[in-house]
Amino acid sequence: MNNIQKEIKRLRKEIEHHNYCYYVLDKPEISDFEYDNLFKKLLDLENRYPQYKSPFSPTQRVGAPPLDKFGKVVHAVPMLSLSNAFNKNDLIDFHNRVARLLPDEKIEYIVEPKIDGLAVELIYENNIFVKGATRGDGITGEDVTLNLKTIKSIPLKLEDNEYKFSILEIRGEVFLTKKQFLKINEEREKEGLPLFANPRNCAAGSLRQLNSEETAKRNLNIFVYGKGRVEGVEIFSQWEFINILKKLKFNVNPLIKRFDKITEAIDYCLYIEENRNSLPYEIDGAVIKVNNFIQQEKLGNVARFPRWAIAYKFREAEEITKLIDVKVQVGRTGILTPVAVLTPVNIKGVEVSRATLHNFDEIKAKDIKIGDFVYVKRAGDVIPEIIGPVLEKRDGSEIEITVPDKCPVCSGEIYREPGEVNYRCISSLSCAAQVKGKIKHFVSKNCMNINGFGERIVEVFVEKGLIKDIADIYYLQIDDILNLDRFALKSATNLIKSINQSKKNTLWRLINGLGIRYVGEEISKILAKNFISLDKIISADIAQIENAVYKKNIKTTRKSLKIAENIVKFFNEEHNLRVIEKLKAAGLNFKEYELVGNDSDKLLNGLSFVLTGTLREYSRNEAKNIIETLGGKVLSAVSGRVDYVVAGELPGSKLNKAKKLGIKILNEDEFLAMLKDKS
Ligand code: IVH
Repeated sequence: MNNIQKEIKRLRKEIEHHNYCYYVLDKPEISDFEYDNLFKKLLDLENRYPQYKSPFSPTQRVGAPPLDKFGKVVHAVPMLSLSNAFNKNDLIDFHNRVARLLPDEKIEYIVEPKIDGLAVELIYENNIFVKGATRGDGITGEDVTLNLKTIKSIPLKLEDNEYKFSILEIRGEVFLTKKQFLKINEEREKEGLPLFANPRNCAAGSLRQLNSEETAKRNLNIFVYGKGRVEGVEIFSQWEFINILKKLKFNVNPLIKRFDKITEAIDYCLYIEENRNSLPYEIDGAVIKVNNFIQQEKLGNVARFPRWAIAYKFREAEEITKLIDVKVQVGRTGILTPVAVLTPVNIKGVEVSRATLHNFDEIKAKDIKIGDFVYVKRAGDVIPEIIGPVLEKRDGSEIEITVPDKCPVCSGEIYREPGEVNYRCISSLSCAAQVKGKIKHFVSKNCMNINGFGERIVEVFVEKGLIKDIADIYYLQIDDILNLDRFALKSATNLIKSINQSKKNTLWRLINGLGIRYVGEEISKILAKNFISLDKIISADIAQIENAVYKKNIKTTRKSLKIAENIVKFFNEEHNLRVIEKLKAAGLNFKEYELVGNDSDKLLNGLSFVLTGTLREYSRNEAKNIIETLGGKVLSAVSGRVDYVVAGELPGSKLNKAKKLGIKILNEDEFLAMLKDKS
């Protein structure tokens, strides 16, 4: 080893030591500045001597290029859930059940804080961190390895340890400290981004970033507490396992304790509950586990819940404060949500001045009035909620809360469907509150799929008044875009290009993009295929639409009637029709591939096709139908009689055969263009 290698090795060791001090021991030995300097030094050496780069270097924790999507990971041992206990009695019942199933056995318990984060699994093969996954549904999770590598308390390698694990799967909870959570939200507020409701949501959002560089910025941490598949070393108890994890330098919660008696374990749960606010991270309960692994096995599971563990869930904190006013918010689908304005009150260290009232029925059921003193809780530490009024404190001056008679944002008509709890604003395409959400939906992947039109851009355009409805997108001028901060000529030109390209989209994308209630991708495709043009859908009556929807797919009359009624209602709304006119004038494609005239007019008359691979826009059957309706034939094998082979993604051997025979091959875009040219 030369001097450079030695220095690189020393720096890596030193940096990992400081990661351990900071993220595990919570006792930093050097300042951030000194840490950054060490890091820069190492980075610099690794860049100058790339031959010494290593996947285990702390410099590899800064994230990697973004992924398209997460892969799936099947857990070797399912990740179970915990059943809940809410009081001492529930915990004693738990112990009695355990004792009954393990007669005359000495039972030890481990008590651990229940971290309010999200469960993950870390897989080590021969001491190397090879994969990490979310819990998912307990059976299959998502591969978030790159994101987990950015968590500095996760060892990338289990250095020189005394154990001989060939496989070691460790479970734990990824979390954010309260401090870090507040910091992230403060930054988001500055940038005008939506805030996270609590540290758990923020941790979950951070871990599920496709771009791990983003995850790296969030400073996540992890407490480990469980095992999955383990090979190479026999372990006999949770206590032993926890101690091995500590030796391997994982972050193990310092409050974990072992008890001989259930009463002591319960007292300790209550102690943790009393002290929860002083912890730098959120916990929502305490977990009691039977210590001995053989006993755990004997106890087994019921469905997804082990009989050997239970979660004691803490009581939610609640306070009394005054309800000063009720404001009505309008969500992206037009739902009106009453929100309580409160005299600020501190609940578990967080100042609360607003709380959701859910809907007007709930206000009535809970008998809440303006001027009431109300009980407020932070439900599961999420959005504060009003439990009910303090009736004894009423003095007669309280005011009834009524449903507004117009949309508070756009003065549009409001309505409520029979059997529904929510009132909605009808002007779904022009109500300002709904516009941002509608536009985000319209440009999204499963609708018009406009490349480069991200959520933030939508917000900026709407805030600057450049877009008031979905049709305005098609009237944007390059100068409008260039005047905005984040655009240079190239990105502005690209955006305009993507917008123009989307005009040619197939009809179902446009229908889906309109955001009609109950009309998603599936119904949009049915409508496009049945009515051939948007104009025909607009002029169809309830019975015609119901018929198409019922016949094709939705096998219950009640559901198809509801869908049909909503579609007709949507197209009867004046604002909506105006926006649709604007879309038409902008030149958007309003037609499905049309069938015209007699047989000799059929566009693909006499042509034979073979389909191979997966198409983005149509299923194999749908594509076959289109070709046949237009007079073409679809054959199953490639031969000299075939005119075109349409090749989607992952084409099969038919493609090679077509190449050999010199048959014309169309990719999906060429195939679609061919249909359009001819229609
Ligand atoms: S043990 C079968 N221990 O709580 C064992 N879970 O409600 C199941 N959690 O999915 C997990 N802290 O996300 C365990 N010390 C702890 C925990 C813990 C938090 C979470 C975990 C689990 C959920 C079950």
